[in-house]
Amino acid sequence: MNVFVTGGAGYIGSVCTEELLNAGHQVTVYDNLSEGHRAAVDPRAKFILGRPEEEGNILAAVKSVMPDAILHFAAFALVGESMTNPKKYFHNNFVNALKLADAAVECGVKKFVFSSTCATYGPPDRVPMTEDLPQRPINPYGESKLMFEKALLWYQQIYGLEFIAFRYFNAAGASDRFGEHHRIESHLIPNVLAVALGKKTQVEVFGTDYPTPDGTCIRDYIHIKDLAQAHILGLRPGKSGFFNLGNGDGYSVKQVIEMCEKITGKKIPSIAKPRRAGDPPKLVAAANKAFTELGWKPQYPKLEDIVKTAWSWHQKNPDGYPALMADGSPPKKNILFVEDNALIIQIYRSHLEKSGFHVEVAEDGLEAMRKLVPFKPDLVLLDLLMPKVDGTHVLKYIREQPSLKDTKVIILSDATIADAAHGAMALKPDRAFLKSECTLKQLLAAVRDLLKVSDAAKSAPIAEPTIQWPPAD
Ligand SMILES: NC(=O)c1ccc[n+]([C@@H]2O[C@H](COP(=O)([O-])OP(=O)(O)OC[C@H]3O[C@@H](n4cnc5c(N)ncnc54)[C@H](O)[C@@H]3O)[C@@H](O)[C@H]2O)c1
Repeated sequence: MNVFVTGGAGYIGSVCTEELLNAGHQVTVYDNLSEGHRAAVDPRAKFILGRPEEEGNILAAVKSVMPDAILHFAAFALVGESMTNPKKYFHNNFVNALKLADAAVECGVKKFVFSSTCATYGPPDRVPMTEDLPQRPINPYGESKLMFEKALLWYQQIYGLEFIAFRYFNAAGASDRFGEHHRIESHLIPNVLAVALGKKTQVEVFGTDYPTPDGTCIRDYIHIKDLAQAHILGLRPGKSGFFNLGNGDGYSVKQVIEMCEKITGKKIPSIAKPRRAGDPPKLVAAANKAFTELGWKPQYPKLEDIVKTAWSWHQKNPDGYPALMADGSPPKKNILFVEDNALIIQIYRSHLEKSGFHVEVAEDGLEAMRKLVPFKPDLVLLDLLMPKVDGTHVLKYIREQPSLKDTKVIILSDATIADAAHGAMALKPDRAFLKSECTLKQLLAAVRDLLKVSDAAKSAPIAEPTIQWPPAD
């Protein structure tokens, strides 16, 4: 099948994309990278960068693919944030989702699969929770998902858009290649493993006085590879409706921490915190409907296996995904060019930018010192003679800043400033060139060498300037 996956650069979407591709489907990932990571997009998938500011873009993107099915993972998913910024949640999770459903109808998409959530139920009347329980969300996140569930029902009835809405319980675990890396991590398992990795000192346990055997909240953890399999089964024609996806087993926060200690072999300190508003004591799925109607059977139902896969991924990726540009290339290196001569700025800037660097300019040492810490350049190209604050002071400032300890410095100055050069050389710049003698080729070679840019970029041709050199003032 030709499948369009929104949010495929996110946690669950990345693994679903991988599993869809493994199952022989053709996948286009659509993601605006607001929360996801370009490195989390399976390289076998086509990638479209979402630009929400472009009106109608989602329709254009769907039209460019004309998919058989849409899997809609893209959403904002922080319950706490939704309580302070509901607008963000209703716009993205409902309004944008509706635009996608409209595009699906217009393009004749045969199946729409939606990532819904157990948060649509609110505090349940009974557990395990079946799909027919009343839905009374207690936060804008859950409400925004419920609103779209309702819209899907009407779209199916009136436009014939066949849909499945999966109400996930707590997604967890990882595949070999893709795992959980949220910029703001609100989920328990990655937060506990962050302590095991030494990235955090302790885990916060919100509420230790719940009516549960050990006083902490009980949740149902479901492996993301199992979630992915449910989506693949849901693509078959004729399957539609609302399905809970969970294991039907609940584990308390304390049990999860103990399991993480067992798997990692590390002591994981925790600290008791007050209950969070709106956290029900126990959320456990009854997923019988998915078992019987879709033939779904979780392959990783045990918490131990879920934590093992998550730990394995976090050990391999302790800092999460590497940063990549939207086209999948490494991010541009930043250069701060400290120079007061407009012509020199113009010449070098254009060549540095053509060579793939991002360049900011400071026309005096004082301006440079203001920009340095927030911009955090990979390299500073530094003239020594400037009107207000000279380059030697700038170099001294760079050397004193702990956040700039990896910043390289190339001095590019004149022969006439021997004294200043002497002072600056004592501060050990990484390279130093005389402006009047250094060619562009030499300078760019030094920049690339210090910044360790790729061989491909190294081979880019450099045209020497044809203008008068040195420039007449
Ligand atoms: N993680 C869970 O335990 C869980 C539980 C229940 C439901 N869900 C739902 O599952 C889905 C995926 O969750 P996740 O944990 O992978 O979240 P995630 O934040 O890791 O992934 C969401 C992805 O959607 C993208 N995105 C958001 N808005 C977008 C937009 N307007 N256009 C294009 N891309 C956009 C983000 O950049 C991100 O890559 C969400 O809809 C979430 O509500 C998750």
